[in-house]
Amino acid sequence: MDVFNKCTVNMGPLGQYADQTEGYFMFPKLEGEIGNKMLFRGKERLIWSLNNYLGLANHPEVRKADAEAAAKYGMAYPMGARMMSGQSDYHEQLERELAAFIGRESAYLLNYGYQGMVSVINSMVDRKDVIVYDSEAHACIIDGMRLHFGKRFVYPHNNIENLEIQLRRAKKMTEQTGGGILVITEGVYGMSGDLGKLKDIVALKEKYDFRLLVDDAHGFGTMGATGAGTDEHFGVQKEVDLYFGTFAKSMAGIGGFIAGEKKVIKYLMYNMRSQIFAKSLPMPMVIGALKRMELLRTQPEHREKLWTIVNALQKGLTEAGLDIGNTESPVTPVMLSGGVGEATQITFDLRENYNIFCSIVSYPVVPKGVILLRLIPTAVHTLEDVAYTIKAFKEVKEKLLNKEYSTEMAEV
Ligand SMILES: Cc1ncc(COP(=O)(O)O)c(C=O)c1O
Repeated sequence: MDVFNKCTVNMGPLGQYADQTEGYFMFPKLEGEIGNKMLFRGKERLIWSLNNYLGLANHPEVRKADAEAAAKYGMAYPMGARMMSGQSDYHEQLERELAAFIGRESAYLLNYGYQGMVSVINSMVDRKDVIVYDSEAHACIIDGMRLHFGKRFVYPHNNIENLEIQLRRAKKMTEQTGGGILVITEGVYGMSGDLGKLKDIVALKEKYDFRLLVDDAHGFGTMGATGAGTDEHFGVQKEVDLYFGTFAKSMAGIGGFIAGEKKVIKYLMYNMRSQIFAKSLPMPMVIGALKRMELLRTQPEHREKLWTIVNALQKGLTEAGLDIGNTESPVTPVMLSGGVGEATQITFDLRENYNIFCSIVSYPVVPKGVILLRLIPTAVHTLEDVAYTIKAFKEVKEKLLNKEYSTEMAEV
């Protein structure tokens, strides 16, 4: 059998709809300057699907820093992996600033958040160790675990009672193997917006003697008194042993970092295959990230504006009778009932008739019968955007209840 056979007979859970969805629901093109309004298919739409939480993507100082660094260094410098020939003072400075900002001894840059996380997990555990993780862990955590030769135990999302059961099993196992336990959770869950129960998790550390790795992709820059993350929000920065952040969201860039104790970061520098065997982050990304860090530290108004929009949106949607689940972060899911056909009709209605562009998630990513429309508020949204969106969602829900959306997939 040809390994390429699957490309025609089984395109996978998302690919199976490619013919109907590509260019509209999947791989849509958003054009124009990144902001609250952008062009989709040549028409201006209100955009609620970008993780540009602090609005830094188009901040004039950020654009200037990016452009100047690109003009000075180009995209090639430094050539090679950090360990071989890709080291620079700027890379080290960014790591020092990141570590200081989130209250850790050391940090190390990752070229991509996703690959970095895979590699952190892969380097931190060996076959004697056991991983215990949340059932809603991001794909990069799952992929990291796929490289793990030892045991892994999953606990249902945020179910601390069950986590304790898994920890008991893990402890028993590591007593036999002589290994350790690594617990992995997210700080903010990116689909539902609820928080990993970091306080409850760290409370179990003494009894079960484990290390805790937190993926705070959505929490870095948005959560906590200074934006230092979900662990700052819960006051458990000392107890979170490894803190992962990405530049792809609040930092409106690309790349990421892992932070923790100096000796652990040193170990990762010499063992993380995704960094040892891959080219270093280009200079404009690093210098641009230093500028973003400066704004995170010195201009809290972006975070404050973000939360003004978040609070208005979440309060308004709830008051309008929409179900936003258990979010405690900027991520704002709106849950409706219906199938894939209704989900596409609603998205089409929102985009074409209301000019609102948001992400839609339906089966198989969420359970059958659930439609999840995900709104990502940012500091560049306005209260008028919020009011308009709440009204639109209220109308959409009424139309859905009145069975105005058909169960056929929308023609796009
Ligand atoms: C929870 C979580 N972890 C990791 C990543 C990967 O980060 P990056 O986009 O920097 O590769 C993402 C990005 O979508 C994420 O949401």
